[in-house]
Amino acid sequence: MAGWCRLKCESRAGTQDHMVLDSIIAVVGLGYVGAPLALALAKHFEVIGFDIDSGRIQALRSGFDTHTQEYFTPPKSLHYSNARQDLSRASVFIIAVPTPIFADKTPDLTHLQQASQIIGSVLKRGDLIVYESTTYPFCTRYYCAEILQKVSGLTLDRDFFIGYSPERINPGDTRHTLRTITKIIAASTPSAIDRLRAVYGKVVDSLHIAPSIEIAEMAKLIENAQRDLNIAFVNEVAMMCDRLGLSASAVLEAAKSKWNFLPFSPGLVGGHCISVDPYYLCYMLERCAYKPKVLSMGRLVNEQMPAFLARKIHALALDSGLAVRASRVLLLGLSFKENCRDMRNSKTPILRKKLKKRGFKVKVYDPLIDTKEAKRMFGFNPLKSLEDKKFDIIVLLNAHQEFVNLDLRQYANPVHIVFDMKNVLPYATHRL
Ligand SMILES: NC(=O)c1ccc[n+]([C@@H]2O[C@H](COP(=O)([O-])OP(=O)(O)OC[C@H]3O[C@@H](n4cnc5c(N)ncnc54)[C@H](O)[C@@H]3O)[C@@H](O)[C@H]2O)c1
Repeated sequence: MAGWCRLKCESRAGTQDHMVLDSIIAVVGLGYVGAPLALALAKHFEVIGFDIDSGRIQALRSGFDTHTQEYFTPPKSLHYSNARQDLSRASVFIIAVPTPIFADKTPDLTHLQQASQIIGSVLKRGDLIVYESTTYPFCTRYYCAEILQKVSGLTLDRDFFIGYSPERINPGDTRHTLRTITKIIAASTPSAIDRLRAVYGKVVDSLHIAPSIEIAEMAKLIENAQRDLNIAFVNEVAMMCDRLGLSASAVLEAAKSKWNFLPFSPGLVGGHCISVDPYYLCYMLERCAYKPKVLSMGRLVNEQMPAFLARKIHALALDSGLAVRASRVLLLGLSFKENCRDMRNSKTPILRKKLKKRGFKVKVYDPLIDTKEAKRMFGFNPLKSLEDKKFDIIVLLNAHQEFVNLDLRQYANPVHIVFDMKNVLPYATHRL
């Protein structure tokens, strides 16, 4: 009996495989997540890479990814487009549009809404729509699929099917790649799961099938919330040690000598995932009349880090006999993390503003970022180079390899502070 069942399942999966291989897949939203996914899928399927940003489409068509600054040869099986009518050829849609927050920290679903409206307008019977964008539990089923139904006039699970597969890539991480990271998949029906398995099974080594779309949505959020909380704890360790007059880096080094102490290090928490996703979860839970305690406190601590660092730098300057108003401060790192170009939700501009308010003359330098883009995003011009520049206070915020390889003392005045937030510079004068 068991053998018969397995055979039946296998032959069903085989049929699905065959059906799916003939499918045209549309990847909607060609950013950090969508662009590499479209390329990977195009090795096995005909793919339409769709984005509303015509500049992005032009660049990708020419074989240049502005996000990674890498050149590539677009395969014949991958057709880049910003024309919605091209989408009507697809039967599997994978959506990877941004899910940011508004200023009041509530979810900004504008992109998900627009993308669902666009897909709804071309939806046909039998189509499968998979969301990869990070969102809160029940959003895919009750927000996105509702739009799909309304715009298309079709019915979920009778005429079309939905899935959810959160993206887990880690920017700047060359060890964990699209292929090697286990991909969670979930769908509205068992046959939709089979189709998802046939699609993603071609581009990733291992899949985890979640029992429901909501479980997959929640799993993605708690993965990032856990990281946010772990960093919040060591950030508060830094604040507590500062109050006690102890060296946080020495305390953390000592604690790390225990086998099960988690080796997190303090820092600014930015980016479009860790600093955003917990708010999505808080939002949904508050709608269910539950106020998350740990999650909210973690966010609060991490949001306080720029103010804590500004106070700390001010105190260090006074201790070293530097006159605040005459001191030139260099902040190193404008992307949200080490060895990465992405500046979204970087907390460096907040620290810059707080230091300027205290009277410091502040410059920011990051060799990995696009300075024009930085000006557009934050309204100030970061330095293009450090050549011939001298500073009184140098603050290492991101441990980019390029910074670690430099001897930053060459950019320091004779009386100086090198404040190493990341504990990677042997010659630092100060650490947390
Ligand atoms: N970047 C990461 O490392 C990462 C990791 C895990 C999860 N995520 C999640 O994946 C999702 C996408 O993130 P990203 O970093 O790739 O975003 P991104 O900003 O790099 O790219 C999104 C792309 O979507 C396009 N877009 C916006 N609205 C659109 C629409 N209506 N139709 C078509 N295209 C549209 C934009 O023009 C942009 O090119 C987000 O929910 C994010 O939280 C990202």
